[in-house]
Amino acid sequence: MDSIVETFAEFYFGHLNLAFSAWRNLADDIRQFCADDEDAFSALEEELGKEIGERNSSKNFPVSRIHKRKVAFWLQDLSVRPLKRPFSDWRLIPEDEVEPDYIFKTYGSGIVLLEENRDPIGQGTTGLISWQGALALTAWAEALGTDVLKDRRVLELGSGLGLFGINAVKCCSVKSFVFTDCHDKVLEFLRLNVDLNFAEPKRKSELCEILRNPNAQSAKPKEECRIQRLDWTDFNEEDLPSDIDVVVASDVVYAVALVPGLCAVIAALLGKGATAAFVACTKRNGDTIDTFLAKLKSIGLNVNVEYRRKFSVEETIMTNHEPLRPITLYKITN
Ligand SMILES: C[S@@+](CC[C@H](N)C(=O)[O-])C[C@H]1O[C@@H](n2cnc3c(N)ncnc32)[C@H](O)[C@@H]1O
Repeated sequence: MDSIVETFAEFYFGHLNLAFSAWRNLADDIRQFCADDEDAFSALEEELGKEIGERNSSKNFPVSRIHKRKVAFWLQDLSVRPLKRPFSDWRLIPEDEVEPDYIFKTYGSGIVLLEENRDPIGQGTTGLISWQGALALTAWAEALGTDVLKDRRVLELGSGLGLFGINAVKCCSVKSFVFTDCHDKVLEFLRLNVDLNFAEPKRKSELCEILRNPNAQSAKPKEECRIQRLDWTDFNEEDLPSDIDVVVASDVVYAVALVPGLCAVIAALLGKGATAAFVACTKRNGDTIDTFLAKLKSIGLNVNVEYRRKFSVEETIMTNHEPLRPITLYKITN
């Protein structure tokens, strides 16, 4: 029963789309566990209700009402008896309620991010959702990159919502972490997400106020974290920090037009004393990665494959907006 409850909570707080086969697998597990015994189902239903009620996330980072409604109908399909509260209440949420633009997603490591709900390239940026490259970089950091990151001053290019960096600050003992991006909305959400994960838990009303007015943030930023605007296509080398040991990036190689700027900023940071850059690239269109590697070599940088990863559906359950593809982490040095 414990693993069913845990998986259910993960899908619920992670806003996992109900169309995903992972929910069908979970339904099969529940049917097998209950084996037509309605009392067993009632006991499970109670545990599910308790788990989601007890988690801090449910109070501080509300799950969208539409998702709750869909989950209640999914659960009802598994039982011949009417559901009890809170699931029975959720079934009453009106069907025509509009999906929110942004949702809180809880990741396996306990990180909560405010993310765009609908369009992976909404608001003219890819940076308002998290990508599988960030998970690959995290997996590498935890498995192999500990020595590379521990006590180091790290700078990330194209941080997006901060999934990798927040994890690195929480789990990898970095000395400092500079999140960077170029998009106003992404930077605003990045600040909010860093705050959400490191400041005192906020009440829902405070979060709503922050969303309406980003300047309303009052929490002190975490000491190790810095958030900075950095546009690869428009930067002055003198403005780049010269106190960086390691550069990281994930899923930033996706448009040929951005490659020259990205390579130039990596070269400049290595020139200013960083020992290496680690860039996780998801193979969507091989040409863009080939252009990136060729450009790095043409400006005299060395490139080696550091790590390869392909995730299963269960492992990337929280980043479910694109098919799973192989990811390669490149180590780039002078
Ligand atoms: C596909 S997202 C990846 C976000 C994050 N690294 C992840 O893996 O979840 C690409 C990121 O690069 C940023 N980006 C795109 N062009 C950029 C530029 N010229 N300078 C800096 N950041 C840029 C976008 O704003 C976005 O956050």
